Amino acid sequence: MNKIAIIGCGNMGLIYANSFLRYKIVTKENLLLVEKNEQRQNTLTALNIGKVVTSNADEIKHCNIIILAVKPQDFKELAETLKRVINPTSMILSIMAGTEMALIQSLLNHQQIVRAMPNLPVEISMGMTAYCASPQVNVNDMMLIENLLSTTGRTLYLKDEQQLNAVTALSGSGPAYFFYFMKYMIEAGVKMGIEEHIASILVKQTMLGAFQLINNGQKSLDEYITSVSSKGGTTEAALNCFKENALGETIIKALTKAEQRAKELSLK
Ligand SMILES: NC(=O)c1ccc[n+]([C@@H]2O[C@H](COP(=O)([O-])OP(=O)(O)OC[C@H]3O[C@@H](n4cnc5c(N)ncnc54)[C@H](OP(=O)(O)O)[C@@H]3O)[C@@H](O)[C@H]2O)c1
Repeated sequence: MNKIAIIGCGNMGLIYANSFLRYKIVTKENLLLVEKNEQRQNTLTALNIGKVVTSNADEIKHCNIIILAVKPQDFKELAETLKRVINPTSMILSIMAGTEMALIQSLLNHQQIVRAMPNLPVEISMGMTAYCASPQVNVNDMMLIENLLSTTGRTLYLKDEQQLNAVTALSGSGPAYFFYFMKYMIEAGVKMGIEEHIASILVKQTMLGAFQLINNGQKSLDEYITSVSSKGGTTEAALNCFKENALGETIIKALTKAEQRAKELSLK
């Protein structure tokens, strides 16, 4: 049976704890929630989903998987004590944004690392998580981590750790881009005289339908765009405005900025 320690049980740590329990990957008796924030400890204790401990307790030694879910800036301090209680055969799964495997290996003096980049929809098991592994991770352990991550949605293995910067720009930050687009679509609806909650239903269902179509249908994005835009029609009027204002180029530029920022943060 797996014994898992989640270090840092804030937003993401708690989502992982609940996901693992939901899919019975671990029992609450074998789940260690390591949290330093007192208020958070009380919340976790009340939830009764695992053993809550306040520091890098000796119990971590008995965990075959250790999940690092603290903020990247808290990792150095954590590593000082954590390195003394890690079992040499344990697997480390880090979800800390921008913290490279080499740094984790050197600060923890431990080689078996998987680094993952999830996104917000993990909250409802609809996440997109890309991950990569250090060469010391064996196939069995990779399978185990894959099973853990897939409790939160879809997963994708990457050979090249450097691609996690692009992943951060695409799927990591991605939900915010769609929310942003939807926000302004709803605002446009309101300007046209539709009540906000009605505009919101129209936009949300349109987004869901468009996603299902591109995911399940036979046509490419360009073909579907053409299917909706008849010559001289309404969609064409909107798309022409996007083109005149270089929206496509702006999107590419914005995501490139996000990737660049991910690179800068991983150098810090
Ligand atoms: N949120 C996202 O969508 C997302 C997406 C991808 C990756 N991530 C990554 O996930 C990680 C966690 O993010 P989050 O949003 O869940 O952060 P969070 O809510 O701040 O949770 C982190 C928790 O860890 C605690 N902590 C700090 N140092 C600790 C230590 N030494 N031992 C035990 N607990 C400690 C913090 O306590 P204090 O509050 O007292 O510091 C906090 O309760 C980050 O590294 C982030 O980059 C997040």
